[in-house]
Amino acid sequence: MEVLQAIQKRQSVRKFKAQDIPDEDIRKLIEAAGLAPSGKNCQNWHFVVIKNRQLMQKIADTILEKNEKIALKLEKVDEEKASRFRKFAKNFTVFYLNAPVLILTYAKDYVPSGYDEYHLIQAPKQLGDNLFQKNPGMQGIGAALENLTLRAIDLGYGVCWLTSQNYAADEIEALVKEETALEKENYYLTTMLALGVPESDLKSPRKKDAEDIYTLIK
Ligand SMILES: Cc1cc2nc3c(=O)[nH]c(=O)nc-3n(C[C@H](O)[C@H](O)[C@H](O)COP(=O)(O)O)c2cc1C
Repeated sequence: MEVLQAIQKRQSVRKFKAQDIPDEDIRKLIEAAGLAPSGKNCQNWHFVVIKNRQLMQKIADTILEKNEKIALKLEKVDEEKASRFRKFAKNFTVFYLNAPVLILTYAKDYVPSGYDEYHLIQAPKQLGDNLFQKNPGMQGIGAALENLTLRAIDLGYGVCWLTSQNYAADEIEALVKEETALEKENYYLTTMLALGVPESDLKSPRKKDAEDIYTLIK
């Protein structure tokens, strides 16, 4: 498939056919992710690919448990917000449980160029913090996930990126560690991807026109 065609075809997939994804194809997706650029080629990613329905369900339960803990406190200050917060978590855990595969993306911090140097010359802390705000480490993760996404489309699959559950990231990490003995020191969960064969006729929101998102200087 042409790159442009894959870019145009990409959309967030929240409805999947009940169709498995062969392990060889998963390997191709991970290979594509691993070819992405990253600051100083740090390749600060690790992917945990889950096909185990029980573990997927346990992750969903973990999210909903944490969601409920927050919602119980939230409803004391804003009932409507609490109700929306609960509903959204239920919605997205239900749709990702319909996907045959869930990919957890872990990342490791990348120290931006200039950060140590600022420290050594005792520059104001704010200057170093500003470098982390640009977050080159997370920019690399985005590049890897987009590579994976486009390769998935190339192979006839679709994905939905999920970050809304990150308030339960510590709990999910602990669960995955317990269930899989995964030992990745200094790596933390950033994103989950629901992956599968998309249902047809899915809708996507409108995108801004090009004129509205760039400035050309000649
Ligand atoms: C970093 C990132 C985080 C996202 N998190 C979620 C999420 O938690 N839940 C969800 O349903 N969609 C999530 N999405 C999908 C966006 O909602 C979607 O990309 C956007 O609405 C545009 O729609 P499209 O992808 O179909 O073009 C996320 C996308 C990105 C890139």
